[in-house]
Amino acid sequence: LFSGPAKSRAFERALQPGPVEEMPIRAVLRQRRTPVEVLCAQTDGADVTTPIAAAWKAVETARDRLAGRRIADLFAADPARFETLSARLDDMLFDYSKTGLDKGAVEALTGLARAAGVEALRDAMFAGAPINATEGRAVLHPALRAAAGEAFSAEGEDVMPEVLETRERSLAFAEAVRTGAYASVSGKPFTDVVNIGIGGSDLGPVMAAAALAPVHDGPRCHFVSNVDGAHVHDVLAGLDPATTLVLIASKTFTTIETMTNAHTARAWMERAIGDRAGAHFAALSTALDEVAKFGIDESRVFGFWDWVGGRYSVWSSIGLSLMIAIGRQRFEDFLAGARAMDAHFREAPLSANLPVLLALVGVWHRGALGLPSRAVIPYDQRLLRLPAYLQQLDMESNGKTARLREGLAGETGPVVWGEPGTNGQHAFFQLLHQGTTVIPVEFLVAANGWEPELAHHHTLLLANCLAQSEALMAGRTEAEAYEMMIADGKPEAEARRLAPHRAFAGDRPSTTLMYRRLDPFTLGRIVALYEHRVFVEGAIWGVNSFDQWGVELGKTLAKALEPMVTGETSAEGKDGSTAGLIAALHALREG
Ligand code: F6P
Repeated sequence: LFSGPAKSRAFERALQPGPVEEMPIRAVLRQRRTPVEVLCAQTDGADVTTPIAAAWKAVETARDRLAGRRIADLFAADPARFETLSARLDDMLFDYSKTGLDKGAVEALTGLARAAGVEALRDAMFAGAPINATEGRAVLHPALRAAAGEAFSAEGEDVMPEVLETRERSLAFAEAVRTGAYASVSGKPFTDVVNIGIGGSDLGPVMAAAALAPVHDGPRCHFVSNVDGAHVHDVLAGLDPATTLVLIASKTFTTIETMTNAHTARAWMERAIGDRAGAHFAALSTALDEVAKFGIDESRVFGFWDWVGGRYSVWSSIGLSLMIAIGRQRFEDFLAGARAMDAHFREAPLSANLPVLLALVGVWHRGALGLPSRAVIPYDQRLLRLPAYLQQLDMESNGKTARLREGLAGETGPVVWGEPGTNGQHAFFQLLHQGTTVIPVEFLVAANGWEPELAHHHTLLLANCLAQSEALMAGRTEAEAYEMMIADGKPEAEARRLAPHRAFAGDRPSTTLMYRRLDPFTLGRIVALYEHRVFVEGAIWGVNSFDQWGVELGKTLAKALEPMVTGETSAEGKDGSTAGLIAALHALREG
């Protein structure tokens, strides 16, 4: 970032402790400037005397101080390490003691969060300021789970009356479908619901419906997202259109995958029940004019607002399939869980704030240690879609290069991936333990399962979860591997030959999020926890976590390529690979 005399002058000043600059939110709102713009103004053209660069330097200093210290040694040196490096919200426990952090490093990271204006930006989000600076929008998904009486306004306009009214309409419709008060055209209750959507209009409901299967007592729910005709074909093939309700979920109502699937489903329905098909459709969208073109009756159109990002929309009418699956009370519990996390995020000091701590661990691994990926491993089969959900939440939010503000250079969002344990243990855990790349792991686990008669399964699940984080940290030296084989009666030469293959470096970081049971309230807390974690990381990295311009180009190109695939237009002018692939396609395509 800096060179020559500016660099040394800047670093000298950066290293001096100084007051953290405050950004009074009222002043920000009065100026009608986003906190990000204010930050830009504060740091534009500045050198490393800006608080964020000084704070980052402190993080790097902590990293250098801890280099070479093994996590296991940090435990040996500090008997209170678990208490120091863990935090709770009621029954929910976040343990980050099995990372290479110590108290000093956490303090440096907390200073970084302060210097990055995380608290001010958080307050600006909750105050409805247009913190989505590239699209000029407020970011108010917390309003979607707010209780009556709470105040939320987007750029000064009270959003709660509409939020509460739409929530009530959606829940009432869900109840009507569940009880049969809103029935199919034959008069029979709906047995099946198909949600057609993609990205944020799919992943939230599909993840949550699987997670909450034990309390699912409404009609069966199915999800179609991929434009691959195989998806809609296979889902509809098992259903009776006469008792199927189709929800078209799309914020924009123009997404090509969703609209293509919607038209296919509509034709399928019309073949069965003719011009009464419309009664088996509902729409979840902000684009009411587009919905009208599709011809869904207003009474079954459930809106939301442009201050809700797609990946933050499960709490809105986009959650209708979930409402139908689990019913009003449990959906309200889901919202209440998220609300509890919102309150914690707003009120708890940074040093005890779960989303902030999760983010600080993330920034440490990605920014300070340069680790490119993070694995999310729920030891919970019903959270099987959580990694996919988090991929969108995290990578679409923070997978960015452009910054809103100078100051914190380096890497931004990591690759997020995962699968439930224990399945992952028999697939990719080999690499986590012995691969050449260190991948921090985030474990999630409930103390209790839902099947008391299968408690021994849950005991094994828990033991495996704990064993993996222990093994990642402890590892096994070559000498230990050798001794183990000698004790097992292996010949000495054989033990010597095999020892390097059976040794684990260990010292691989992981965190564990533990909670009593995966019920609607806790799922709400988990999802909001990750939403706010992504927010805090984005604020520290200085990216806008709320746009997704990176997905646009591919969409535009796909539109132009469609007639080339059909052969209506030529591929002339395309790059050699694309033109070659199109020619090969034409040779292979049948019909
Ligand atoms: O392609 C990305 C994206 O815009 C996501 O952000 C969004 O969740 C998804 O597409 C679906 O968009 P829509 O709800 O407008 O159909």
